[in-house]
Amino acid sequence: MNVLVAGGAGFIGSHTAVELLEAGYDVVIADNFSNSKPEVLDKIRKITGKDFRFYEVDLQNKEATETIFKENQIDAVIHFAGFKAVGESVSKPMEYYHNNLLSTLVLCELMKKYDCKRMIFSSSATVYGDPKKVPITEDSEVGGTTNPYGTTKLFIERILQDIVISDPEWSVVLLRYFNPIGAHPSGLIGENPNGIPNNLMPYIVKVASGELECLNVFGNDYPTPDGTGVRDYIHVVDLALGHIKAVEKATSTKGVHIYNLGTGHGYSVLEIVQNFEKVNGVKVNYRIAPRRPGDIPACYADTTKAKQELGWEAKYGIEDMCRDAWNYIQTSGQ
Ligand code: UFG
Repeated sequence: MNVLVAGGAGFIGSHTAVELLEAGYDVVIADNFSNSKPEVLDKIRKITGKDFRFYEVDLQNKEATETIFKENQIDAVIHFAGFKAVGESVSKPMEYYHNNLLSTLVLCELMKKYDCKRMIFSSSATVYGDPKKVPITEDSEVGGTTNPYGTTKLFIERILQDIVISDPEWSVVLLRYFNPIGAHPSGLIGENPNGIPNNLMPYIVKVASGELECLNVFGNDYPTPDGTGVRDYIHVVDLALGHIKAVEKATSTKGVHIYNLGTGHGYSVLEIVQNFEKVNGVKVNYRIAPRRPGDIPACYADTTKAKQELGWEAKYGIEDMCRDAWNYIQTSGQ
């Protein structure tokens, strides 16, 4: 079975490509390196000892993207490609809507033309907005997104649902990720954003390595046990394995299936800092700073549905996530 991994050089895409290859799938990767580096491809080959086809394309370019479908019989698509920086999306809404929506439409149009009707979409817990209750189940209300990035995820979910309504032969799996962190245990692939990171774990890593001076903890007056924000952090390898189960689901059923991919446990910002320091034996300087606009107090998953229907649950704990995030920076550097 041949799986097209759109955005396969990125953080979650590269880990998923590794797990697909190791599970025996044929893989085709498409990426335009807008937020990733070409070296990742060889690292995927090194980890797995397997090869795959690669296309450097912008999915907005239909003609270029069509080459992939002409040259390969694609059985399923996992769609990771998209801009993903929450803050940037607020200042560049048009770029976010244009890139994320158009690339999805181009992919779907080509899938239809080449009769490939299995799509796994990289969605986000952000579609729940500020949840009325936690843990969050998949039937919780969606909407109320607080930034254009989140709204693109919401819109794309709707587009894919409408495609299934128009043609019930499609199978669409919407995977709502919570907070993916960590890295491959080999230390060869991981997350290393350019510039100053927006997300917690990449920021902690840069403070621990001395590249940045101090972590700003955004708010300590939330209604949470220690006052700092609570999130459901999930090891990126567990997340990648969830995609293998989603491909199996898309192969065995039709229609739309929605799953939360998280661990079901919430950790506060200070708990993450403490775990990181303990596991890695390093110091993370921090100070309490004002709340970050758009943040919610707590967000963690009810994981029952993925467990029951996909037979998937996260295996790595918070210590593994902290260890592997640090190991990646030590091994692969800047
Ligand atoms: N935080 C800090 N300091 C920082 C960065 C983050 O205190 O420098 C805090 C945040 O306030 C929050 C927690 O750490 O309480 C996690 O923040 P992240 O930016 O790492 O992650 P978010 O939960 O804000 O957002 C992430 C992804 C989104 C996704 C969302 C879904 O970035 O793409 O999870 O829940 F939509």
